[in-house]
Amino acid sequence: MPIDDQLNEMRQQALAELARVNDVAGAEAWERRYLGAKGELTTFLRGIGRLPAEERPGAGRAANALKQELTAAYDAKHRDLAATDLEQRLAGEAVDTSLPGRRPPAGAAHPVSQMITEISEIMGLLGFQTVFGPEVETARYNFDLLNIPADHPARDVWDTIIVAADKEDLVLRTHTSPMQARTMEATQPPVRVIVPGRAYRYEALDASHEWMLHQIEGLAVDEGITMSDLKGVLRELARQLFGPQRRVRFRCDFFPFVEPGVDFAVDCAVCEGKGCRVCKQTGWLEIGGAGMVHPKVLANVGYDPQRYTGFAFGLGVERMVMMKYGVEDIRAFAGNDVRFLRQFARAMA
Ligand code: FA5
Repeated sequence: MPIDDQLNEMRQQALAELARVNDVAGAEAWERRYLGAKGELTTFLRGIGRLPAEERPGAGRAANALKQELTAAYDAKHRDLAATDLEQRLAGEAVDTSLPGRRPPAGAAHPVSQMITEISEIMGLLGFQTVFGPEVETARYNFDLLNIPADHPARDVWDTIIVAADKEDLVLRTHTSPMQARTMEATQPPVRVIVPGRAYRYEALDASHEWMLHQIEGLAVDEGITMSDLKGVLRELARQLFGPQRRVRFRCDFFPFVEPGVDFAVDCAVCEGKGCRVCKQTGWLEIGGAGMVHPKVLANVGYDPQRYTGFAFGLGVERMVMMKYGVEDIRAFAGNDVRFLRQFARAMA
């Protein structure tokens, strides 16, 4: 085929192909196909040297003219496509500010945390400061200073989790009471603190017993504190939490670190004291222990028991949430089922 015809055919084919290209990547592929180092036209230009001498000048001119034409056509097409591309990208990425916002999934405080916050606020109004203590405790604070010596049978009541077999004096605290001694050692009367936190027990699990539980310890020490102060504070707390009609009950109980000691119960808010599954048909829910701080405990931390008296209490937080919302199984709290937890989300302030 004569050279002019060859080039003409290449021209028509190239321009037709370029007309069909509709994106930048396609245009760049087209450019490689014809004008790239191994492109059709480049290959043709390289072959001109092998043509008979008389044909070379004409073929060179025609091929170079075609190269210019194709390069110009490519540049124009590439510019257009790049501009359209950018427009489309910008349009796609534009933010439509008239659309309603998407609500992000919001978390909520765990019901146990909510209860701790609520109690801290109520007790704050009664003059109690909230403090925190270590969950890994020494036997000295967990037991000894609380008048529970190593050979005392009361140690068996708290099914202790020992941290390391060779360190029997290091335990996961079995209650929040160790903070009684820690607080008194660190300060002088008047003392008014509450201590929310976790406690751990080697416990047989059932609907009302967990191996990890939350307690709120309360401690007030000053001159002239009496049992009626204790009763007044717990009664007020119960009414603020569960409603003004709640009744409270104090019955004799034994804890080595108080004398006298009581167990503290509130009439069941779920059945109004009539008896239901939550209160096990008794009408009452025991939520903690309490009493007057034992003189030995005061002496252990260097307070003068002749001068100072005090009261202490330890309340089970999960049990209080169970009572407030009628939760029947304590294991739900650490069960990590959001369907359970979500029910408390709206209770948040
Ligand atoms: C104590 O732990 C004492 N330290 C309370 C105390 C403090 C008495 C200060 C006197 C003065 P007790 O073992 O009864 O007492 O536990 C107190 C409360 O914690 C219980 O009434 C209960 O509400 C909660 N509790 C105890 N064990 C568990 C458990 N395994 N699971 C869930 N709650 C528990």
